[in-house]
Amino acid sequence: MCQKGQVGHMNNAPIGVFDSGVGGLTVAGEIMRQLPGESIVYFGDTARVPYGSKSKETIITFSRQIIRFLRTKNVKAIVIACNTASAYALETVAAETDIPVIGVIEPGAIAADKATRNGRIGIIATEGTVSSGTYSNVLMNLNPSLQVFSKACPLFVPLVEEGLLYDPVTLEIADRYLYDLLSYDIDTLILGCTHYPLIRRTIQKVVGEEVVLVNPAYETAKELESVLRERDMMSDENRGSHRFFVSDSAIRFGKFAGNILPCDIESVECVDIEKS
Ligand code: DGL
Repeated sequence: MCQKGQVGHMNNAPIGVFDSGVGGLTVAGEIMRQLPGESIVYFGDTARVPYGSKSKETIITFSRQIIRFLRTKNVKAIVIACNTASAYALETVAAETDIPVIGVIEPGAIAADKATRNGRIGIIATEGTVSSGTYSNVLMNLNPSLQVFSKACPLFVPLVEEGLLYDPVTLEIADRYLYDLLSYDIDTLILGCTHYPLIRRTIQKVVGEEVVLVNPAYETAKELESVLRERDMMSDENRGSHRFFVSDSAIRFGKFAGNILPCDIESVECVDIEKS
C-alpha cells in the first residue's frame, strides 16, 4: 500500500466488471459516472447467458474462468455486476482472490433498507438469486423487522438481451409477474438482476409511482469507491479508458453498449473464456 497522496503502481490499473451479458453495463455505467477516472475491463458472457437458471456449481465455475481472464488484463479489483453470480459465487471467489471482489447484493439491500417506509420490500430477480435466499438473508441481518417478498422473473433477461426494452410484450410479461407482489403492499422494490434497470420504465408503469425502485448499481459504485479509497487504490487519471470483451456476438453487444453507456465503444473483442 502506498503513502497518502502518492499513487501506487496499481492505481491506474482497470476495474474488472462482469455479467452474463448486457445487464452488468448498468453497473459499469454507474461506475463511469461516479468514478470517471477509473478504467474498466468489462466481460459479458453472451455465449452462456442466462445465468439465472443454472446451478450454483456452474456459476462458480463460470465466475472463476472470468476472474482468471480479467486478471490477465491486470485488474486491481473486480465487481461482480451480476446478482446471480453475487449470490452463488461471491463468497467462494472472494476467498480465493487477493484483490478486492465486490458483489451487488449487499449494496442493493442496504439501499432498500434505507428507502422503505413501511418495512415491506419486494425483490424481483432470477430464479437462482431468489432461490439462494441471499437478498432475504442480508436484509434480515440489516433489519430483522423487515418483511420481504420475492418473485423470480425469468423472461425479463431474454427480453432485455433481445433489446425489447419498451415493447408491449415486455409490459404484458411485467404485468403478469408483478401482479402478486403488489398485493403485499410493498413500498420498495429491488431490481435484483442487473438487466432489470434497463426495463425500469416498464416496471415502474406496472407497480405505480408510489413504489420506490432500487437499482443496486448506484450503491455498488459507492461501495467500490469506498473500498478503493480505504486501500489508497484510486486512480489519478482524469478520464478512464474502457475495454469490452464477450464470449459471443461482439457486434451486437457493441451496438447495445453504445446505446446505454456514457462513453464511446471503440471495440468489442470475442474471447474463448473456457480456454483464455
Ligand atoms: N444480470 C444477471 C443478474 O443480475 C444475470 C441474469 C441472467 O443471466 O440470468 O442476475
